[in-house]
Amino acid sequence: MTESAFIHRFEPATSAGSAPLLLLHGTGGDENDLLGLGKMISPGSALLSPRGRVLEHGMPRFFRRLAEGVFDEDDVRLRARELGDFVSESRQRYGIAAPVAVGFSNGANIAAALLLLKPDVLAGAILLRAMVPLSDPPKAELGGKPVLLLSGQADPIVPASNSARLAALLSQAGAGVTHKVLPAGHQLSQADVTLARDWIGNIAAEAA
Ligand code: MLT
Repeated sequence: MTESAFIHRFEPATSAGSAPLLLLHGTGGDENDLLGLGKMISPGSALLSPRGRVLEHGMPRFFRRLAEGVFDEDDVRLRARELGDFVSESRQRYGIAAPVAVGFSNGANIAAALLLLKPDVLAGAILLRAMVPLSDPPKAELGGKPVLLLSGQADPIVPASNSARLAALLSQAGAGVTHKVLPAGHQLSQADVTLARDWIGNIAAEAA
């Protein structure tokens, strides 16, 4: 095991030309949680799905928090570096291109941190119920990377002002952000799946 090893699942691509997905689960999830979602969003993509290495009362997460919505930002930075190293190693090991992250909740928050701290790691990101992960992020250069941010209008964990701030932050850093607010709470809805699938289909069509 290297320093950056994560327990993970990897499923190879079954159709050439679809972007690999980096699947990042929410608090209490694991590496199996989002495989089905990944297949629905982008059938044929390679799937790389790590388990978060931080435990909160036995529940896996991608970084430590001090309270709900209050993050240990030193840990966010450390864990984003670790995850970035894991993705780089996995790309070599499995021979895949830079992935598009698909993160839910805590997984979306670490994906947002990766975009801001290690912009080269991801080709883009689908952020489901994400929040601003760092109060004072570095100036990132996202050079047009595509980001889909899907928020819930009635999300009790992510205030509307917070997701709007994240969209602005990523746009200012140069990402091509699509932000939609759905009639949903923190949990995912069918609309998330449909919008994510259409969005990634458009990205693939533009890249072809
Ligand atoms: C987080 O801690 O990343 C957010 O509060 C979302 C959650 O995991 O509940």
